[in-house]
Amino acid sequence: MMERSFVMLKPDAVLRRLMGTVLTRFEERGLKLVAVKMMNISEELAKEHYGEHKEKPFFNDLVSYITSAPVLAMVIEGDDCISLIRKMVGATNPKEADLGTIRGDYALDTGRNIIHASDSPASAKREIALFFNDSEINEYALPD
Ligand code: CMP
Repeated sequence: MMERSFVMLKPDAVLRRLMGTVLTRFEERGLKLVAVKMMNISEELAKEHYGEHKEKPFFNDLVSYITSAPVLAMVIEGDDCISLIRKMVGATNPKEADLGTIRGDYALDTGRNIIHASDSPASAKREIALFFNDSEINEYALPD
């Protein structure tokens, strides 16, 4: 099924100049980027985005980290792309992430694990709406 996923390169990906490398992986896989923007996340947006972790001991650190430098927020489109992107991203704890996954290849620390990707169609819908207006999402056809 055609799906859209919300993907975000976290501050460590930006500061370590890994944005291009990670975007290339998605493009080379054949996925379609339909929206991309670099932005500073407000504290309010960070708390909303990570609402499900509100009670966790790491919540404050998570909010201060994600607001500490710009992120690259994006929407990626493709057939069954939500689970495919999660596979490409790898486990939350990069030490458990398989080699060949984005986290397995570029991260070591759970708090600084490079990238976020929606875990279900419902989260994708919620997260895309939090970060993008409909008019910022580009519809276009790729050549065959
Ligand atoms: P992500 O899965 O994108 O969204 C929730 C984030 O919380 C997760 O990435 C980690 O970056 C962060 N996180 C999860 N567990 C911990 C932890 N034990 N300590 C610090 N950060 C965590």
